[in-house]
Amino acid sequence: MKATAKANTNIALIKYWGKRDKDLFLPMNSSLSITLDKFHTITTVEFIADLKEDTFKLNNLLASKEDKIKISKFLDKVRALAGVPYFANVNSTNNVPTAAGFASSASGYAALAAASVKALDLNLSLKDLSILARQGSGSAARSIYGGFVEWQMGSLPDGTDSYARQLIREDEWDLSILSAVCQVGHKTISSREGMKLTVETSPFYKGWLDSVSIDLEDIKQAIAERDFIKLGEITERNALKMHATMLAANPPIIYFDSGTLEVIHCIRELRNQGIYAYCTVDAGANVKILCKREEEDKVTNILNTLQGVKEVIACHPGGGISYL
Ligand code: PMV
Repeated sequence: MKATAKANTNIALIKYWGKRDKDLFLPMNSSLSITLDKFHTITTVEFIADLKEDTFKLNNLLASKEDKIKISKFLDKVRALAGVPYFANVNSTNNVPTAAGFASSASGYAALAAASVKALDLNLSLKDLSILARQGSGSAARSIYGGFVEWQMGSLPDGTDSYARQLIREDEWDLSILSAVCQVGHKTISSREGMKLTVETSPFYKGWLDSVSIDLEDIKQAIAERDFIKLGEITERNALKMHATMLAANPPIIYFDSGTLEVIHCIRELRNQGIYAYCTVDAGANVKILCKREEEDKVTNILNTLQGVKEVIACHPGGGISYL
């Protein structure tokens, strides 16, 4: 009743922003991401018959009570699926530096779902694994697969049609995703709270929903055609639109910092000079930049000269779940 799994994190090009069911993590819109090769979580789960409660260690330290409750709630779903009452010891190693601005929840819950299901010998398809991982963190549904991944929102109230699928493998399109780590001068709100506030109060939310499905169809075509410029333009537009929607919430949500804007302006200026790079920003201040692999060093060097940038980390498309 013990297994270890590894999952990579992912970056959304078409963002998931808003839940229609907060308990089942059902999204208001479909989304699309690239799984990355650099940042991952490795998790070992061992169910033990006489254990009195679940334990959760993160990077060899006992996790906070709050995190432990979330993990136990997730394991309850796995226990219910397997019809097994046992508690588990969960040991996770995260090599997603918080400073790098990638959410570790995507790789975290994807690895936890895969390891706990394997530990209990549950024979789940990747689709069912994606449905399970989604119930820990929405973006985790996408980290089950490598390469370019679409999470279809589905429409059923029980969430059985809300899962991710792979569009193309990681080796089918090589490009670079740079993370520009920006100085952060203020506290931001969690994606969970930010989504809720935006759905409930932003007058622009309808506009977001009405247009995101068009962005998704267009970007899928760009991927099929390996059209980098089209991919980049849609990615940048979609991210800025998500932030515009949040800026209109009440109270307004601002994830951008001065460094964020400095990077965005720099990347737009690079395009004027014929270097085709594009930005995307999640629920934080850091900017992720898409560029062609052959221009990775050039773009990295330019970003490193900016005052608001502390570090630039280069990633590439990576693989899906694996077992160790
Ligand atoms: O699944 P969460 O709670 O980590 O939310 C992800 C939200 C965004 O990163 C902003 C968008 C996305 O689709 O990953």
